[in-house]
Order: sequence, then C-alpha cells, then structure tokens
Amino acid sequence: MTVGITICLINGDGVGKEVVPAAAAVLAALPLPITFTQAEAGWECFQKHGDALPQATLDAIQGADAAIFGATSSPSTKVEGYRSPVLTMRKHFALYANVRPCRSLPVPGCPQGIDLLVVRENTEGMYGGREWRDPDGQRAVSERVITVAASERIARYAFEAARKRAKKHVTIVHKANVLKETDGLFRECCLRVAAAYPDVAYSEMLVDACAMWLVKDPTRFDVIVTENLFGDILSDETAGLIGGLGVAPSANVGSGRACYFEPVHGSAPDIAGQGIANPIGAILSAAMLLQHVGQPEAAQRIELAVRRALADGVLTRDLGGTATTTAMTEAIIARL
Ligand code: NAI
Ligand code: MG
Repeated sequence: MTVGITICLINGDGVGKEVVPAAAAVLAALPLPITFTQAEAGWECFQKHGDALPQATLDAIQGADAAIFGATSSPSTKVEGYRSPVLTMRKHFALYANVRPCRSLPVPGCPQGIDLLVVRENTEGMYGGREWRDPDGQRAVSERVITVAASERIARYAFEAARKRAKKHVTIVHKANVLKETDGLFRECCLRVAAAYPDVAYSEMLVDACAMWLVKDPTRFDVIVTENLFGDILSDETAGLIGGLGVAPSANVGSGRACYFEPVHGSAPDIAGQGIANPIGAILSAAMLLQHVGQPEAAQRIELAVRRALADGVLTRDLGGTATTTAMTEAIIARL
C-alpha cells in the first residue's frame, strides 16, 4: 500500500511566491504520491484579510504531513494587529527546533569540508515578543526568557542529531560570562543533557568567539546548539560560508505532527518579481521535508541533483551566474 504525503504550500510574500512553486515543481517531478494544498500567510494576506496567519492556514498546516513556507515581509515598525506569521506558527505548534544544516556546495569561493548543523531554540529568548518603551520614549526594554524545559529539549534534539552524525560532537554556544542568569541557565541545561550522552563529545564556546571561528575554520564544527537570537544570526553567517542566503534550507519541528520547512532567507524585496531568486534554499528545504516524512532516498536525490546542477555551472545571479529561477529549477529537475 502506498501512503500518500500531503504537503501544504505557503508562498507568503516577495520571492516566496517564486521559490515555493520551484520547490513544489521539484517534488512533483519525483515518483512520489504527493498531494499539495495551498494556504496564505504574510503581509499581503494581512492587507487582504486583516490577519497575517488566518485560522484556515493553521488548519491546513495541521492537516498536512508538512508545510513548505516561503517568506513573509514584516514591517520594521509596529503595525496594529500584525504579528510575524513565522513567530506565531512556531509558538502555536510548539515547533521548538529550528534546524539549519550547512554543507559545502560546488559554488565559486565556497570552502570545502564544511558539514555542520545549527540547532536553534525556536520558541523563547528575545523572540517572545515582550518589548516596551518607557512613556518618555527615552528607554526601551526587551524581555529575554530562557526556561529549563525549552533549553533541555533543544539540547536533547541537538545531542540526538549529533549521535546520528559522523563526528558526534556538539558545540554549546552561549554568552554566560555576561548573561549569567539567562545564558547561565541555558548552559547548565545543555551540560546536564550532555552528561546523558556519553557517546557524543561536546565543548562550549562563547557566541562571539563562535562567530569568529565560523569564518576562520568552519570545518571544526559539527552540531551547534544555541538560543534563538544567537542561532538566527549564526545561521545566516553559516549560509554566507556556502554561497549565501539563497542556498540555505531549514526545518521547524516540534514533538507533534505539524512542521514546516523554509529557506532561511526572507522575502528579498530588492529582487522580488524579477524571476532571478535562487530557488535552492527552498528546494533543499523540500529535501529536508522528505527526510522528515520518511523518504530519505528521495531527499538524497534532490540534494544530488542540486549539487550536479551547481557543479555543471548552472548558477543564479547571487552565485555569480545568470540562470533565472526557472532555469535553475529546470536544471535541477533534469538531474534528479
Ligand atoms: P532577505 O533574506 O529577504 O534578503 C537579504 C539579502 O539576500 C538581499 O540582498 C536579498 O536579495 C538576498 N536574497 C534573499 N533570498 C534570496 C534568494 N532566494 N536568491 C537570491 N538572493 C536572495 O532579508 P532582509 O532583506 O533582511 O528582509 C526582507 C524582508 O524579509 C523583511 O520584511 C524581513 O522581515 C523578512 N524576513 C522574513 C523571514 C521569514 O519569513 N522567515 C526571514 C528573514 C527576513
Ligand atoms: Mg533570520
């Protein structure tokens, strides 16, 4: 009996509308029984419906085996009633792990031998949304929340992931020397979890030093576990090591069925609508999705096809080439 896979596509805004269809085209080219559903989210959706993440979209995600999310444009200033859909989805479905792999790619200037995984805590830290300005406008405060429950579960996720990898090493990244309470607690939780994984080696690193070592010698890392904001920043840095935001995929997973996969990049308003966005971040996110739903061979096929297309010199503009989104996608499909 073949069991079908239901995938909910959420384009979002900007280049999301170009790269999600590209990822869907690659999935559709595989001999898998996939049913696609569509749902709306983001800034345009907010302007249309007054809601950046309608209940219908939450229901569609819940009803699917997994979702692919493009990106949304979030205004930098406060807009009444608008809250970033990614933050809401992560909270609503308790998608506590944001998983961002970074492996060397055959693109110009990419150092070889990089194979690391950033495991970012996805539900708390500075992204809890509790910020305020004093009435006199002279001071602004942000609340940084770290809990034992969230820190231990993200540490367990990281150690479980490391256990399945060749190097079996976790770097615990924090700033506990300054943030003694919040990062002090995060560090303690990670160390406690580390003790339960005698087969996985670990070390600690301060986040600023980690940023430096990622540039100087990224091959020394295996799994990095860190809190929300540090993970957000460090994973954009790791994307920069392998060709940029256009190629970096990610997974947002929790302990329930709901999950979504998205390129690390945003809506890229500077290039949106021109047909030149790199679809690889979204396509590799689709590969992560297949791995997650128990299709590792199909996931591997996508990864290999991406590598072959790049090695054959098919490069989008962000990688120094001239291929359009469509040409890149077709080149990958031709190599599946
Ligand atoms: P961005 O990731 O959209 O763009 C940063 C740079 O990377 C730009 O130069 C852009 O052209 C380039 N880039 C991004 N994706 C690319 C692709 N697929 N191919 C080629 N080049 C690509 O980040 P930015 O400019 O800081 O934010 C733009 C908007 O996106 C903002 O409204 C922000 O809030 C939102 N955003 C949304 C995210 C999400 O929905 N998960 C994540 C990050 C930002
Ligand atoms: Mg980010």
